[in-house]
Amino acid sequence: MPFDLTGKKVLVTGAGKGIERGVAITLCESGCKVYALSRTKGPLDTLVEEHPSIVPIVADVLNWDDTREKLEKPEALDGLVNNAGIAAIGYSAVDWTKESICKVLDTNLLSAINCTQVITKNMIKMKITGSIVNVSSLCGISSFPKTLPYVMSKAGMDMATKQFALELGP
Ligand SMILES: NC(=O)c1ccc[n+]([C@@H]2O[C@H](COP(=O)([O-])OP(=O)(O)OC[C@H]3O[C@@H](n4cnc5c(N)ncnc54)[C@H](OP(=O)(O)O)[C@@H]3O)[C@@H](O)[C@H]2O)c1
Repeated sequence: MPFDLTGKKVLVTGAGKGIERGVAITLCESGCKVYALSRTKGPLDTLVEEHPSIVPIVADVLNWDDTREKLEKPEALDGLVNNAGIAAIGYSAVDWTKESICKVLDTNLLSAINCTQVITKNMIKMKITGSIVNVSSLCGISSFPKTLPYVMSKAGMDMATKQFALELGP
């Protein structure tokens, strides 16, 4: 189904590959100016080769301050898609280390909060009625074996979505 989003400016995170590369291309083909953020430069380079209007941003969302600095540079945006994430399956719930749990929560949940804070503050300042899309998972509402940090990250994402909607919706 075609959408006409001509003139809209949207940032997508984790756009190097997977779901979000497709989202970035679809938004671009629907008329958006797309800012594509991802950790690894190579996949972003090929994305820009295929769609030269896409603006690449190389950033590791685990680095809160660097990501914030890079997101403050683009013009005020109409939309943000928080997608950057890692799958995490491997250990029984009693065996996950603090380090592994924190890495998944930092990547999948806290990074989305960081990006949302920067982008929405600009939206509010510029009086833009924008949209934020958070990519969650069935794992946010169901438990699956050996996925403790992943299901926690997606359940947290669902609540963060509700909280931002409650506070920013008006
Ligand atoms: N695939 C599924 O079946 C499925 C189902 C439900 C929900 N989801 C959710 O959908 C989202 C995308 O999944 P996917 O399967 O498309 O993932 P993917 O193919 O692994 O792609 C993830 C993208 O995010 C980037 N990324 C990962 N960590 C990053 C970091 N620290 N900083 C910046 N970018 C980072 C990756 O960059 P690199 O190129 O550096 O790796 C990659 O471009 C995730 O949030 C996932 O939880 C996926």
